[in-house]
Amino acid sequence: MNNSPIGIFDSGLGGLSVWAEIRRRLPAESLIYYGDGKHCPYGRKSAEKITEYAIEAVESLLNMGAKLVVVACNTATGAAIRTLRNRYTIPIVGMEPAVKPAALATRTGVIGILATQRSLESELYLHTSACYATGVEIVQSEGEGFVELVESGMSDSDEAINVVSRVVEPMLQKGVDQIVLGCTHYPFLKNTIRKVVGNRKVNIIDPSPAIAARVEQLLGQYDLQCDATHTATYQFISAADEEYVSRIIQFAKQID
Ligand code: DGL
Repeated sequence: MNNSPIGIFDSGLGGLSVWAEIRRRLPAESLIYYGDGKHCPYGRKSAEKITEYAIEAVESLLNMGAKLVVVACNTATGAAIRTLRNRYTIPIVGMEPAVKPAALATRTGVIGILATQRSLESELYLHTSACYATGVEIVQSEGEGFVELVESGMSDSDEAINVVSRVVEPMLQKGVDQIVLGCTHYPFLKNTIRKVVGNRKVNIIDPSPAIAARVEQLLGQYDLQCDATHTATYQFISAADEEYVSRIIQFAKQID
């Protein structure tokens, strides 16, 4: 038994999509969310820089007593997961674009992967797509401008429709029947993506429920679950200023 919090980290607000799933699945667990904010977006930054920010984030979460850390950021996972796991002894959960479930589910044989540029270039992604998508055509694309839409609270705007169409329409034209949300910011654009998809038969894959399940499994494996009677607390921290912390809290309330 361990009543310490679970730490969750992202470049900004996106990881709240994972935070919400973990909270839903493990309602007694305390959570600390670290939204960098100062260096967001990570999507086109170098792996070295992202690793530096990820270390800063994990250090902050450990200083606040985190018993397990979720890197709720595909980009940071691709750039830094190996370094983080070598450096720290607590369990660290990473995320990567869900190529495998999409490859298993496709009927058209064409799957769409939406992720940041850095994720699409990462060794982790290249390895996973080579291993699990044999015989399947991958149409991959950077969600250019997507993170900015979410960070500025414009996920449901007319501009969002334009930005999303520019990226998603070419995928649809290539016949994808699965679209993987390979960045934790993108689930907040799900409604807009659905509008662009229209009545075409396309399954949108959000891996956050699977990540929450993995967290539950690891807590069991390492005997880190909290007491059944424990009352959860939720804390929010950032590398940016207090105003950004308030935005994280506002955003978390909206997805409550
Ligand atoms: N939310 C992050 C991800 O899952 C990173 C987005 C960014 O900062 O570019 O990839």
